[in-house]
Amino acid sequence: MRTKRIYLTGFMTSGKSTIGPILANVLGWDFYDLDKVIEKEQGKSIVEIFEELGEEKFRKIEHETISRIASQENLVLSLGGGTITVDEIYSKLKSTGTLIYLKVTPEMLYKRLKNKIDRPLFRDLVLAENSKEEFIERIERMLNERSKYYEGSDLIIDSDNYPVGITVDKIAKKIKRFINEKN
Ligand code: S3P
Repeated sequence: MRTKRIYLTGFMTSGKSTIGPILANVLGWDFYDLDKVIEKEQGKSIVEIFEELGEEKFRKIEHETISRIASQENLVLSLGGGTITVDEIYSKLKSTGTLIYLKVTPEMLYKRLKNKIDRPLFRDLVLAENSKEEFIERIERMLNERSKYYEGSDLIIDSDNYPVGITVDKIAKKIKRFINEKN
């Protein structure tokens, strides 16, 4: 059944890795965190992979890892924020499962990202102590570039100001309805 795989997408720090395991628990499905699987298998952090191998190679590793994980059913997989930007990966996700977008405003993303040095695509801004305007500008630019993918998700969940439990409830209810409609 196509809907027995849930892929969580959303910008960095949108809550994918927090919500994923709880949602999997509620549904009684297995949980995988793509970044964590990659870090474990490569024996390197995501920052090191970007520095040593580059973003293009990282996207290839993401693709190969998803293909392996998604051969299984009854799973929740938290993706990296940029995983969906590769057309081939996007098609694979859309055709093998339900893609859920955790939507968060730029303001909230800024608050969560401003002190994090483990995100290679924002690390330079954090280390240089750049202004809020520069963070927001980059967040908005990247959101615009990625919006056709994010907004094309099967379900879009506004997750800005809600406690994790509420967001999980919302997703679980919608997923159950979605599965029933599709079968
Ligand atoms: C990325 C998001 C990160 C990680 C890498 C690239 C992106 O994952 O995969 O730093 O391109 O948005 P999170 O969304 O879990 O932070």
